[in-house]
Amino acid sequence: MDRRPKVGIFDSGIGGLSVLRACLSRIPQARYYYFGDNGNAPYGSLPKEEIARLTGRALAMFERRGADLAVVACNTATAVCIGEMRKRFSFPVVGVEPAVAQAAKAHREVLVLATPRTAESDRLKTLIDRFPETHFTVFPAPRLAAAVEAHFCRGERLALSVHIPEIRCDCAVLGCTHYALIADEIAKYLHCPVYDGAEGTAGQVARLLSEKNPDHFRPHRKRGHDSIKQNKFSSFSINFLGESKHMNRYVFITNICSQSF
Ligand code: DGL
Repeated sequence: MDRRPKVGIFDSGIGGLSVLRACLSRIPQARYYYFGDNGNAPYGSLPKEEIARLTGRALAMFERRGADLAVVACNTATAVCIGEMRKRFSFPVVGVEPAVAQAAKAHREVLVLATPRTAESDRLKTLIDRFPETHFTVFPAPRLAAAVEAHFCRGERLALSVHIPEIRCDCAVLGCTHYALIADEIAKYLHCPVYDGAEGTAGQVARLLSEKNPDHFRPHRKRGHDSIKQNKFSSFSINFLGESKHMNRYVFITNICSQSF
C-alpha cells in the first residue's frame, strides 16, 4: 500500500501552481492533486457565499480522493472562508496568507496587491494591524488575476501598467497567488523587491504532515505514478514547474472546470 501523504492543492486557476512548486521542492515525497477552478474564475469579485461554495466543492473532491491535507492556495478563498472549511473537513486545511510579516520586518513603505475580496477582508486588516510601524497601501487589482490566467493559458498580452498603479514603495506584497507567477515582472515594473507566501505555506504543510505522521518524513524509495491528466493548461504547468518527469511521476494535475475528477 502506498503510504505517501496525499495533498490536495486548490486555487481558482493557475495561481496555486506557485504553492504547488514550493511544496514539490519541500515535500517531494507527497502525492499531489491540483485543482484550478478556472471555469469559475476569477474569484476575486465573486459574492462571498459563492466563493465558499466553490471552495467547499473543491475540498470535497480532495476528500473523496482520500487527501491527508488540503491547501487553499488562493488568498481570496482563504480570506473569505478558511474558518468555515476547517470546521467542515476532518483533514487539516492550510490557507495562504499575504507575506505581510516578512515585508514589514524589512521595509517601512509596503504596497499590498490583492484581489478586491482579499483587499477588503478583516483577515488582511488584522494582519496589517500587527505592524503599526509600517505604512501599508492596499491596492485592489480587480482584473489582474484574470489577466495573468489569460496570459499564460491563452497567450494574451499582459500590460502591468493597466493593472498596477505607479506607486512609490520599498517593496510589494503579492496578495494573490496568481501574481506570484509574474513576480519578476512586478518587481521590475515597481523597481522594488516583492514577497509572496508560497514558501511559508509549504513550510506549514510540511509541519502539519510530519505532526500527523512522522513516517511520511522518513527516507523512502520513490515510486512512480500514472501520467498527469492532459488538459488545457497542463503544458503551461509542466513548463512552470520545471521537471516534466518529476511532474509525471508525482503530480496529478487537472483544471477540469466544473466537473469533478
Ligand atoms: N489566486 C487567487 C488568489 O490568490 C486569485 C483569485 C481570483 O481568481 O481572482 O486570490
